[in-house]
This record gives sequence, structure tokens and C-alpha cells, in this order.
Amino acid sequence: MRITTTKDNRKWISLAALVLQNTSLVLLLRYSRTMKAERYISSTAIVTAEFIKGLICIVLVWLENDRSINRLFRVIHEEIYAKPYDTSKLAIPSGLYAIQNNLLFFALSYLNAATYQVSYQLKILTTALCSVLMLKKSIEKHQWFSLCMLAIGVAFVTWPSPEEVQKRTTIQSQATWLQQSTGFGAVLLASMTSGFAGVYFEKILKTGPTSVWIRNIQLACFGTLFGLVIVFCFDYKAVMDKGFFQGYSTVVWIVVLLQAIGGLIIATVIKYADNIIKGFATSLSILFSSVISYFILHDFTPSLFFYMGTVFVLTATFLYGWEKNKVTSSVNEQARIQNILIK
Ligand code: C5P
Repeated sequence: MRITTTKDNRKWISLAALVLQNTSLVLLLRYSRTMKAERYISSTAIVTAEFIKGLICIVLVWLENDRSINRLFRVIHEEIYAKPYDTSKLAIPSGLYAIQNNLLFFALSYLNAATYQVSYQLKILTTALCSVLMLKKSIEKHQWFSLCMLAIGVAFVTWPSPEEVQKRTTIQSQATWLQQSTGFGAVLLASMTSGFAGVYFEKILKTGPTSVWIRNIQLACFGTLFGLVIVFCFDYKAVMDKGFFQGYSTVVWIVVLLQAIGGLIIATVIKYADNIIKGFATSLSILFSSVISYFILHDFTPSLFFYMGTVFVLTATFLYGWEKNKVTSSVNEQARIQNILIK
């Protein structure tokens, strides 16, 4: 039996995959925090994930081209090497993502968790704004309302526990006012790059025949390059002392692999759905991971904030998908039928 996947199917499959991938990633990160292990260098993990993402895409392009090495080289030559201008466009989102990933690590060192979580939800709104400005997407009033509700809901769901606040306050009290303000500025900047880079990548993916895997190879090439520059600038000494892969336990490797696969899933979600819907999928996965933590890992106690946030996130998700026209047209249809009956 031949299974045909329509564009709509691909959209739902990629969204489900994103929820699954992000839920497992959040859970794994939560679990890894409880283990005592040698510290790994986060900048090297970003490079490794980008590199693995590129390799997986090369395998996918090879599969798409009847598993022929000759055709693989020809496609890569024609689509990447022979089109330097087209390829160079990907340097923009890739560079922004590299800066964003490092800005977030920086911000986490100086900000308390609550400020971090709440301010980073601004990316939901910057993504919507960029979609309107750059893709001319029309967002209705009730959808703007639901996006604000989603941002507030995720902020509530991720609101830290009193112990976490205590831990972070100790870190925060060591940071100067200037460092805290810089940390806050870094999160705001990351919210902007997140919206802009995501929508810019969406525009590239949706305006041209080039396959999503080729676009990801281009993104991964620049990502690896920019990532290595960041390793060189900030962690050169540590890498020289103890090696590039220091502290890479099995859990770290799984996290890196999940990040790489996550990049691919995000690209397909952006292609078949869009960046705004991606925001809903990742928000739902944050919620799911907390529920799993409560029932299976028993390392999470829901607070009043969590319950309020859950209601906000779920309501926002239904509200965004609610089609006003459908309701209006069904009301019109009922009126039309009533008119016929009266006559
Ligand atoms: O927070 P935000 O949704 O902007 O994060 C997107 C993440 O997905 C970034 O860390 C970026 O590096 C990654 N990404 C990727 N491959 C893509 C698109 C995004 O690895 N094609």
C-alpha cells in the first residue's frame, strides 16, 4: 500500500514531531541538571549539534537522489557551490542564531530565572510582528489577543519554584546592577533575533524551489563556522587544556543529538506550517514536560501559577485556531435556511 503525504499531513506530522522532540529535550535537560558530572563547554555543544545536523541533511539529500553519490555531489555543487549569492543569504539567520544561542547562555548567568523566562516570551510577539512586516501575514484581533495570552501563559508555566528563585537570587546578588541590566538586554536582543531569524528563514524556504534539506545544509555550514569562531574567541584556552569534547557524557550526547534533530524538525515545521504555529507547539511541549515530570519523574510540584499558565496556554491555542469566518458563515447559513423555511 502506498501512503501519500499531503502538505496538510506533513504539517501535522512535523508539529507532532516538534512537540515530541521538545518535550524529550526539556525532560532530559531537567534530568541532566540533577546529575553530578564534569562540565561540558556549551559553545562546543552548539557546534557539534550544527555539524551533526548538516551530516543528517547530506544523508537525506543522498536518499532523495536514489542513493547515488554522483547525483548527491551534483546537487550539492549545483545548489550550493554554484549559487554563492543564494547560499550567502543563509549566513544572516545562521549568524543571528549563533549570536542568539550564546546571548541566552550569557543572560542566564546574570538574571534570575523568572526575569529570564518572562522576558524571553517576548519572542512570541516579535515573531508575529516580523511575520506581518516581512511576510505580509494577516493576523486577526482575536489572534493577537491569543498570542499575548500564550506569552503570559508560558511565563506562568515556567515560573520558577521558591528553591529555584533562592538559588538564582544567590547568583543574582553576586552580579552587579550593570551585569543584570546587560543580561536583561541580552534576552531582549535574543527575542528580536529569534523573531527575525525565524521569519527570514521562513521567507527563504517558502519563496523558491530549493529543498528544505539543502537549505539546512547551507544553514549548518555557516552555523558550524560561526560556532567555531565563538569557541575560538571565548573558550580557546579551555578547549586547549582539556579538549573539545570534555564532559561529553551519554546524556550530553543525547542532548546534542536531540538539538540537531530539533533543528531539522523546526525547519520542516517552518516550511509546512509557520513560525507562529511553531511557538504554540513548543509552548505545549513545555506544558507536557511538566505534566510528565509530575506523574513519572516526581520532581515537580505544580503551583497556582502553573495551573493558571496551563489554562492560558490551552485557551490561547484554541483561540488562535478558532476561525471567525467559519462561525460567521455557519451563522449566515442558519439565517439563510431559516429565511427559506419562513418563506
Ligand atoms: O528560540 P527559537 O525558537 O528562536 O530557537 C530556534 C532554535 O532552532 C535556535 O537555537 C536555532 O539554532 C535552531 N534552528 C536550527 N535549524 C533551523 C532553524 C532553527 O537548528 N533550520
